[in-house]
Amino acid sequence: MSISKNSQNLLMPSNKLQSRPPVVQFCSINACEKTSFVFLRQELPVRLSNIMKEINLLPDKLLTTQPVKMVQSWYIQSLIEILEFLDKNPDDYKVLGEFVDALVTIRNRHNDVVPTMAQGIIEYKETFPHDAVTNQNIQYFLDRFYMSRISIRMLINQHTLIFDGSANPVHPNTIGSIDPLCQVGDVVQDAFHSAKMLCDQYYLCSPDLILQEMNKKNLPISIVYVPSHLYHMLFELFKNAMRATIETHENSNNLPPIQVMVSLGGEDMSIKVSDKGGGVPFRRIENLFSYMYSTAPAPQMGEHTRPPLAGFGYGLPISRLYAKYFQGDLQLYSMEGHGTDAVIYLKALSTDSIERLPVYNKTALKNYKVSQEADDWCIPSKEPLDLSNYKVAK
Ligand SMILES: Nc1ncnc2c1ncn2[C@@H]1O[C@H](COP(=O)(O)OP(=O)(O)O)[C@@H](O)[C@H]1O
Ligand SMILES: [Mg+2]
Repeated sequence: MSISKNSQNLLMPSNKLQSRPPVVQFCSINACEKTSFVFLRQELPVRLSNIMKEINLLPDKLLTTQPVKMVQSWYIQSLIEILEFLDKNPDDYKVLGEFVDALVTIRNRHNDVVPTMAQGIIEYKETFPHDAVTNQNIQYFLDRFYMSRISIRMLINQHTLIFDGSANPVHPNTIGSIDPLCQVGDVVQDAFHSAKMLCDQYYLCSPDLILQEMNKKNLPISIVYVPSHLYHMLFELFKNAMRATIETHENSNNLPPIQVMVSLGGEDMSIKVSDKGGGVPFRRIENLFSYMYSTAPAPQMGEHTRPPLAGFGYGLPISRLYAKYFQGDLQLYSMEGHGTDAVIYLKALSTDSIERLPVYNKTALKNYKVSQEADDWCIPSKEPLDLSNYKVAK
């Protein structure tokens, strides 16, 4: 599959980083369905096949688990379905309608990719606990795999939301899933209240929110962004902050509030979520972003169980991917014994918010080679094994 060079398209071109237009171009109100169709029928196969190449580099024993085979079959099926549009006439309205339907089918097919892939990895680790494939290899793959998925869903959502013929009645100003005037404070409040409801169900109490905004103009802060992405990140951070706060202050009548500072500068729009939940040892911070790490009991899965507050270990790593997707980041600064600051960094200017996508090339290939080289530091640089706090999320 060749790499798309269709840089004049309204949405965005493919793997050429320097020619990739920013989020603002997703927002083009002049978006034409035909142009978007011609772009997507080429771009989606490129993105799908890039990541399918990387799936193929996974160890055979992982590839042959039932869940991973299933995920792979979804990707193959979706690729075939999009390729069927390659020779169709973009001027035919019927074709454009069929394309929207096909994208909806594909989006639904891939709804459960994250838990299914997670299940495959759990099965592999349980069956072959001594395999040489390191957590690092799997972390590398999952970061790229889930980032690719975020980007593919973004493209599909933009096309289907803009061209399904109905306006969004709740948020009439949004363009697809993007809000050109996304009020950050409102999203903070929404995410906080959802997390608070969950927290109240589990612990019968929850901390309060103190929200501050720093902005030269003294106006509420807004950016061009995808509110659902921002909500996802904040919701995860609030659940974590609430759990830490309550578990640290179990016997106290007064829960310290969660403080949020939203700050807009010339380059960054940053959101800091601060809790007084006792913090995390410095040595552990990077572990928290591992897909296999959680200190919460494994949640029960089932149709009638309520959504868990914690326990899958996917909250932080996936939230960091959302932040990185438009060139931002998510970092944790913790003081063990006191509390944690989680900071989301986003680009203040939509022109800087360019998609960050994995590209399959020789450098990527190297990262799938199992490395078991000797340590070049004589002091053990690996963290002491303390398995009591490790648990594989189920
Ligand atoms: N604000 C926080 N304070 C203390 N520990 C935290 C905080 N945020 C995250 N953690 C730790 O990081 C782990 C991973 O978090 P996350 O990725 O959200 O997964 P989960 O919440 O499902 O365990 C948590 O289990 C917890 O041990
Ligand atoms: Mg969490």
